[in-house]
Amino acid sequence: MPVSSKPPNPIEERATAIDICLGNQLELCRRLETLVDALPFRFDTLAATLLAERLRSTMQMSHHLEETIIFPALSTCHPEIHGMLDRLREEHLEDQDQTRDVQDAVGAFALGNRGEAEAVGYMVRCLFVSLRRHLAHDREYILPLYRKGPTSRFNPESLRFREP
Ligand SMILES: [Fe+2]
Repeated sequence: MPVSSKPPNPIEERATAIDICLGNQLELCRRLETLVDALPFRFDTLAATLLAERLRSTMQMSHHLEETIIFPALSTCHPEIHGMLDRLREEHLEDQDQTRDVQDAVGAFALGNRGEAEAVGYMVRCLFVSLRRHLAHDREYILPLYRKGPTSRFNPESLRFREP
């Protein structure tokens, strides 16, 4: 079997690992949303509990990789986006808090607190809105900037609104 002669590219390997974590979070959101769509009449509490736990651990791994690999690299190469990186760190904390709240709410529902079906559904959907927005920004802006490497230049024009 031929072995690839391409030299390893640490930046690409790290970016790919983080992109997989981002994709896993989107998939877990999609699966949780499907379960929540069945509220209040049906709700697979075991599946929801497991998905919420997995979302939290996947998110923690992703945040760790982003904050220990990507943010320091971007912070060195692009000091002009320090403020943006601080905001992204805050969003990570908010998303972790919201995921913990969702886990607690799903757990309470699974234990028989069925009067809160609407609240559980609302809480899960609120998490998705902010999390999906954050993941899209990570994928469309932060990862490509990191992939360009340390010699890349920040182009403010890339942020300008364009007609679709
Ligand atoms: Fe992030």
